[in-house]
Amino acid sequence: MRTWPSVSPRRIPQPCVPSMLGILLLLVASLSAQNTSWDRPSCTEGVVSVARGQPAVMACNISNTFSRITIRLRAHGKTVTIFEEQPPGRFSGGGWKLQVHGGQARLVITAAQDAHAGQYLWHLQGLQRTNRATYLNVSGEAGPGRGRRRWGHHCGQ
Ligand SMILES: *[C@@H]1O[C@H](CO)[C@@H](O)[C@H](O)[C@H]1NC(C)=O
Ligand SMILES: *[C@@H]1O[C@H](CO)[C@@H](O)[C@H](O)[C@H]1NC(C)=O
Ligand SMILES: *[C@@H]1O[C@H](CO)[C@@H](O)[C@H](O)[C@H]1NC(C)=O
Repeated sequence: MRTWPSVSPRRIPQPCVPSMLGILLLLVASLSAQNTSWDRPSCTEGVVSVARGQPAVMACNISNTFSRITIRLRAHGKTVTIFEEQPPGRFSGGGWKLQVHGGQARLVITAAQDAHAGQYLWHLQGLQRTNRATYLNVSGEAGPGRGRRRWGHHCGQ
């Protein structure tokens, strides 16, 4: 007689245990960077100093196109709006000229007077809004008898 070995192989199927690590890895989403186009403003920095009667230039560039630009001058505790424009274009008034083309803006003062001195506040708008500031210092002390005049013309040297 033949006796079969009483071996009953029991094959227990190993369940596929999902690993928590794998799930976590699946849950890790790669952050797709927001592809915004930034204005990246670049303006004349610090203090621009010119002698009275001399030209002064300040500029602000952005990497997008200007949709709006406002320039205010803060001096003697007062803030006045010089330009509030929707570019492009060339604008002028009060001895200031503003040229805006694409993402470039130039503020030109042909002959700087005391009235032009102060802190220039630039409100730039391309695809974002940014504020920048530049100081204009007009040097040359007012001589005796010369008051502080806002729009005084220059009385020779
Ligand atoms: C993302 O930005 C890159 C360069 O910064 C540009 O080439 C590409 O066209 C942009 N894609 C979208 C969908 O805006
Ligand atoms: C603005 O752009 C013009 C032309 O590229 C450049 O000459 C000027 O230096 C720039 N000004 C500033 C403040 O970035
Ligand atoms: C501006 O100019 C005056 C002289 O007119 C000087 O005393 C002052 O220090 C200057 N300011 C700056 C910030 O350069």
